Amino acid sequence: MAHPHWPLFDLAVRTPRIEVRYPDDELLFELAALPADGVHDAAAMPFLHPWTRAPSPELERSALRHWWGHRASWSPEQWVFTGAVLVEGRPAGVQTLQGQHFAVTRALSTGSWLGRRFQGRGIGTEMRAALLHLGFAGLGAEVAYSGAFEDNPASLGVSRALGYVDNGDRLHDREGRPAREIGLKLTRDRWERRRRHDIELRGLDACREWFGA
Ligand SMILES: CC(C)(COP(=O)(O)OP(=O)(O)OC[C@H]1O[C@@H](n2cnc3c(N)ncnc32)[C@H](O)[C@@H]1OP(=O)(O)O)[C@@H](O)C(=O)NCCC(=O)NCCS
Repeated sequence: MAHPHWPLFDLAVRTPRIEVRYPDDELLFELAALPADGVHDAAAMPFLHPWTRAPSPELERSALRHWWGHRASWSPEQWVFTGAVLVEGRPAGVQTLQGQHFAVTRALSTGSWLGRRFQGRGIGTEMRAALLHLGFAGLGAEVAYSGAFEDNPASLGVSRALGYVDNGDRLHDREGRPAREIGLKLTRDRWERRRRHDIELRGLDACREWFGA
């Protein structure tokens, strides 16, 4: 094991198309440089917190602060796994997997973004499938939650392609206007029906207790 004191650094999920891994600082710096090239249309806002509006270099610094915060505050009761998405070995975006009291709830939630040049090629679906595999096959989850604004067809498309069902809706103040978030959920039995056998988990055994699994 390369990182006995912080074994998450050895955790990786591989699919035939991508790798998702827990990033060291060098990889975080590369990820932090991506949003400046664009994550969405300026007229759109897919995120509850409009972090992508910040100008450089605050954009990069706030991203790093966010990821370092999740690294530092990790506990088995409350964790956010920041998954760096690598396409042909190069960073393309982030897929997160989040758990609160996972040992009891067996419930997960996810969040994601890709640099614009990586969007619309099925990578968003692949990276969500990768971390759902970590959650269901690796950690024994019973349910995964997600959500997206109703005007985000790509994110809703990822969820629907992977078998999520609608799970209610909620209105938010999005930059001063009401916006409807559609809740989604994927139960273990629905995940099993589409379960893939070409996704590989590496370095998980040393991390199980970190997740409360
Ligand atoms: C959301 C996001 C991660 C999805 O990744 P992606 O690689 O672009 O999505 P995919 O290519 O895997 O497409 C997923 C599905 O949505 C559909 N889709 C993608 N873009 C679409 C669009 N603009 N309009 C309609 N459908 C779209 C695809 O056809 C596909 O459906 P299918 O499997 O039935 O063919 C990515 O678009 C992104 O980073 N967007 C900006 C940030 C964001 O919205 N984050 C999520 C916040 S909730």
